[in-house]
Parts: sequence; C-alpha cells; structure tokens
Amino acid sequence: MEKYIIRGGKPLYGSVDISGAKNAAVAIIPAALMVDGVCRLENIPQISDADMLLTILEHLGARVKMINKNTMEIDCTHVRYTDAPYDLMRKIRASYYLIGAMLGRFGAAKTTMPGGCNFGVRPIDQHIKGMTALGAEVEVAGGFVYAETQDGRLHGSRIYLDKVSVGATMNIIIAASMAKGRTIIENAAREPHIVDLANFLNSMGADVRGAGTDTVKINGVDSLHGGTYTIIPDQIEAGTYMAAAAAAGGEVRIGNVIPRHLESITAKLREMGVTVIEGEDSIIVRRSGPIRRINVKTMPYPGFPTDMQPQIVSALCLANGTSVITEGVFDNRYKYVNELRKMGAQIQVDGRTAVIEGIEKYSGAPVAACDLRAGAAMVIAGLCAEGETQVEDVHYIERGYENFVGKLRGLGADIVYVSDPDEPEQTLKNVNIG
Ligand code: EPZ
Repeated sequence: MEKYIIRGGKPLYGSVDISGAKNAAVAIIPAALMVDGVCRLENIPQISDADMLLTILEHLGARVKMINKNTMEIDCTHVRYTDAPYDLMRKIRASYYLIGAMLGRFGAAKTTMPGGCNFGVRPIDQHIKGMTALGAEVEVAGGFVYAETQDGRLHGSRIYLDKVSVGATMNIIIAASMAKGRTIIENAAREPHIVDLANFLNSMGADVRGAGTDTVKINGVDSLHGGTYTIIPDQIEAGTYMAAAAAAGGEVRIGNVIPRHLESITAKLREMGVTVIEGEDSIIVRRSGPIRRINVKTMPYPGFPTDMQPQIVSALCLANGTSVITEGVFDNRYKYVNELRKMGAQIQVDGRTAVIEGIEKYSGAPVAACDLRAGAAMVIAGLCAEGETQVEDVHYIERGYENFVGKLRGLGADIVYVSDPDEPEQTLKNVNIG
C-alpha cells in the first residue's frame, strides 16, 4: 500500500517550480500518433498518465526515445493499426483521445471506454456526436468503442457541442486536423490546454484557428510533419500549491506559471484575505492572518476550475464563518468530503452544493485519496492538521502531480512517501527536494 505520512501544523516557506500541464500532455501525446516523423515534446510532466499513453503508442509501433525525464522524441512514422493495450486504456480518462488520433491516422479506431476519476456519470456522447459528424460510424459494445470511416478518411463538418466539454473539444480538434475539408466546432471549451493542443498541431503543419474561444475552425490537412513543441505549465498544479499556501499559511513563490491562466484562483484567494502577487511568470502567495469565508461556483474556463474544487474546500474548512461551494461541471465531485470529515471538517453536501462551517484546525487522521484532486486536498488538510495524517491510495495523486512529495518537502512540509508500511522507515522514493 503506497501512502504519504504528514506531520502537520507548519506554515510553508520557499519556492516551487510548476511542471508541464497534465491535461495538455495527455492530449498531445496521443495526437503525436498522427505525425509522420519525429515529435520532440518538452516540459512533459513525469506522471503515470503520460507514461501509460507513451506505452500505448509504443504498442502501436511508435518509437519513444526519452531525452530526459521531461523531454521525449516520439517517432510515429511506422505506426500501424492494431490492437492496443486495453488494460492500460481502461485506467485513464484521456484514452478517449486515441479515438480521434487513430481515426485521423488510420481512418479507424478501437479503444476501450475511458477510465479516470470517478465523480458521477462521465459520458462520451459528445465525443461520439463529433466523430459521427465527421463521417465515422461509431459503435459502443462490450466496453469498447469502435469507429470506422467509409472511405478511410474523415470529412469536415459543423459540430455544435450540447455540453461545454474539454475532452470532446480536444478530441474533435485532433480528428478534424486530418479530415478532408473544413470543420467548425461551436460551443467549444476554452481551457488553456485546448490552446496548447492547437498550437502543438499547428507547429506540426495543421491549420487550427480560434482555439480558446467558443468557436474553433479546422482546415484538414493531408499529413503532419515532425517538429519540437514545449507544453505550457500546469494551471491546476500551480493552483494546488496556491491553495496549500493559503491553507497552511507562510509565503510561497510558485515559478514557471502563466498568471493569466490562474486569474480566477487568484481572485478567490484574494477574497479569502490571502495576499497574491503576480510576476511575469511567477506568483507569490502569502497568508498570515485569518482566512475569510467565501462562496465559489466552479465553471468551465475562464471560470473557477472544477479541478480546484477539492483543494479550495480543504482551505475553506479553516475559514472564519460559512462558505458555500457549487460544483458547476460534474454531478458528484464531493466523495472526498467524508475523508475531510474524519479530520474534523464540518461540511454538509446536498447535490452539487457543499456548505462549509469553518473550524479552528484539522486533527490528523488516516484518510484515503478518492481521486487525483481529492488526494491533493487530503494532503493540504494534512499539512494544516494537528498531529499525523496518513493518506492512502496515493497512486491517484501520482497520476497528475510530478514529484509532489519532493516539491512539498522543498517548502518545509514534513511529508514522506511510504511504499510498504510494514517497514518503519522508508527511503524517500523518487523524491528530489525542491
Ligand atoms: C477533462 O475531463 C479533464 N480530464 C478533467 O480533469 C477536468 O475536470 C474536465 O476536463 C473539466 O475541465 C482530462 O483532460 C484528461 P468534460 P473531461 O468533457 O474531458 C459532461 C483532472 O483532475 N460530458 O469537460 O471528461 C461531463 O460529464 C481531471 O485533471 C458529457 O455530458 O471533462 C461533465 O459533466 C479530472 N458528454 C461535463 O460535460 C461528453 O461527451 C464536462 O466534462 C463529455 C462530457
């Protein structure tokens, strides 16, 4: 059983640098499947979701050469349409991007229904609507998604998304970039990682315009050439360290960020009485006084990110007064609240709304990570708690945070990774301080 052991109650001081964006990397790696040549990708975070996607590409015949832990060269010149490792696909949500990439490259696709964090129903009907509009016949059967084109190629189309969906927007951009003719996506999601995907594809010879707005236009091309691309810093990883500093107190400098991507998080922390100073590519977060209660509603970008909901809740549990959270994106993203209650949190959940009564302080307890961001929230609570907190099932956290323990230890946190609790003291696994 992998777990973190945290001894809380210490403010955080120091600097931390943000890694590449997980939700950009997990779309760009599958998109590399369509490139006839070598894609050199830089600033890819060292996380298990990225590792799994690279392994899937290798099964399809891609050659992956690791230059360093964050840089790799992917050569898909000789990929071929074949069965991919479905056991890996089932584990991650982002495996749905292989539908768009395989259709774009091979004119056919066979993937599993996606896995990923479990917070309510997460259909892929908008993905299927998009692929169907582009001319694919799509069938879901036996836990698999089968897609096939009539003449071996997709054809451009106009697609209105019934729901603002990050995944469907990115999947359709991927597939349409190699379709014949023009595609227009309306009611598209606008997240920064969508712009990053479009920039990656355009640097490889695609013609994607309007990414980051609610209308994206793609003129399909016949082939994509190799090149080099550096992905953007992770907006949610940065927000997680901002929330940790707000909750634990102290002063933290967060480097390698794009402050514009963090505007909604900065605004809410300032409402909470936290000092946030924006630099060119860094943010300083300082908190010494009380935390003020606030209300938060999560929304698609540029609204407050749903992926920051658990983290801001763990900070607001220590606020003076009552805060109200409304989850505007997913049906049920409060599974972790029971774990926070074990540490003394006072939270009532009713559907998509959570009402938080501020408490003096958390008390350490054995808890578990329910999913990626919930796991980060449990760590934040542990950093603030009196006594020791053990967070189990940390494999969820390792899916999306590079060197989480090492970066927190670099800020003075008393946290260790333990892989086998039967042995009292563990060497620090792949942890490099700072
Ligand atoms: C992506 O998930 C991210 N995952 C999630 O990040 C993130 O929470 C989410 O976007 C919202 O920003 C990846 O990028 C791998 P959606 P995705 O499609 O694509 C509904 C993290 O912590 N919907 O934008 O699944 C859906 O149920 C993870 O990094 C449909 O109804 O999110 C949800 O209510 C967690 N039909 C809403 O739309 C569809 O076909 C938004 O989902 C697709 C989605």
